[in-house]
Amino acid sequence: MLNACMSKYQSVRGTRDLLPQLKRVFRQIDKTAHESAQHYGFGEIETPIFEFSDVFHRSLGETSDAVSKETYTFADRGGDSITLRPEGTAGVVRSFISEGLAQLLPLKLYYYGPMFRYERPQKGRYRQFYQFGVEVLGLESALADVECIDLAWTILKKLKLDQRCVLEINTLGDQESRDNYRKALVEYLTPFKAQLSVDSQVRLEKNPMRILDSKDEGDKKIVANAPLMQNYLNDPSKKFFQDVLAGLERLNIPYKVDSQLVRGLDYYCHTVFEFTTTELGAQSAILSGGRYDGLVEMLGGPKTSGVGWAAGVDRLADLCSANLEIEKMSPISVVANGDKALQEGMTIASALRNKNKYCEIFLTGNFKKKLEKANKFGTEKAILIFEQENGSMEYKIKNFKTGDEKLATREEVFNI
Ligand code: HAM
Repeated sequence: MLNACMSKYQSVRGTRDLLPQLKRVFRQIDKTAHESAQHYGFGEIETPIFEFSDVFHRSLGETSDAVSKETYTFADRGGDSITLRPEGTAGVVRSFISEGLAQLLPLKLYYYGPMFRYERPQKGRYRQFYQFGVEVLGLESALADVECIDLAWTILKKLKLDQRCVLEINTLGDQESRDNYRKALVEYLTPFKAQLSVDSQVRLEKNPMRILDSKDEGDKKIVANAPLMQNYLNDPSKKFFQDVLAGLERLNIPYKVDSQLVRGLDYYCHTVFEFTTTELGAQSAILSGGRYDGLVEMLGGPKTSGVGWAAGVDRLADLCSANLEIEKMSPISVVANGDKALQEGMTIASALRNKNKYCEIFLTGNFKKKLEKANKFGTEKAILIFEQENGSMEYKIKNFKTGDEKLATREEVFNI
């Protein structure tokens, strides 16, 4: 009966429970990223987990996989079309516009939270996953791109992942460059139309550049000889990209230019980049982003440039679970012999915890078992409480390292 119940309710495919051990790794990553973002002058923002569907449809593009196949969209009880956020940028930009934050520009923001995409689950790919992301609004300078990437690099270094990933970077140029490139690409791809995958045939009409990003093997072969973006960049776009690369070099951030990198979301222009690893199979991108100068306007706001990135915290956690030094805290253990002693132990434990001390008290088992448990927890010092025949208490402090045990007063125990 119990087994039948247990098998009936599993977590939904592509979602997972973050149990304490893994959650500690997540928290450590979040803490590292959060502290680093603060050092770079970013402020934290939290936007709702769901938005009106249009926010994502308009910003990510109807032909992006994230919108066309992967959104969790539903009509709420009032009949509005709602979408669980598949990423963080669109919500931040919506907030920038609806909260009227234009007077505060430039803005440097960061966020952490769950995102939802109906993708085929596999190692490193979940339907509910976590992103830590940053967005810089209102800075046109290429140095803003450099500052963002530098922050990403700092976080990856602190997580000891810098030797295990590569920064791949490309430019999509400005609108004029992209229009010229798009024309050349369509000219090249049109004769192959019938051989392209169904998705790419649709994209050929709506967003041909996304074909460069296709995972279809047939598409990949056709795309291998496609014209290159870099040959269609106008001078300002070339200069912008050179400034980004020079900035990275000054900061000793290694990079590799990948002229095929276009990224899956429609809002990008100029710089696009991904930190990738070879250690997670097909899900190689651990942190990715780029510049999105047209997005604010596209959502109805004032012309405002933007650049940012998001890291897949699940993927970072998978990579650094083994090598991250999670602070190990050793508790003060309270080990009581007898019911009254246990009640006294509860009072002492509560007082110590109120003084921000990590304290464990063992509620069950005989005295010997409790001492064994304390040892397993890595206790350095334990408070031992013994109930005397006359009802009074005897206290001892045991040092687990030396094995020493000495009598103590009640006051000493409270001030351990
Ligand atoms: P994205 O490349 O779609 O970009 O996602 C960013 C990161 O989220 C990826 O590099 C990956 O590590 C992680 N990720 C994406 N999908 C999944 C999944 N199904 N399971 C686990 N991890 C995943 C964006 O979301 C943009 N908003 C980034 C950005 C911010 N661009 C400018 N500002």
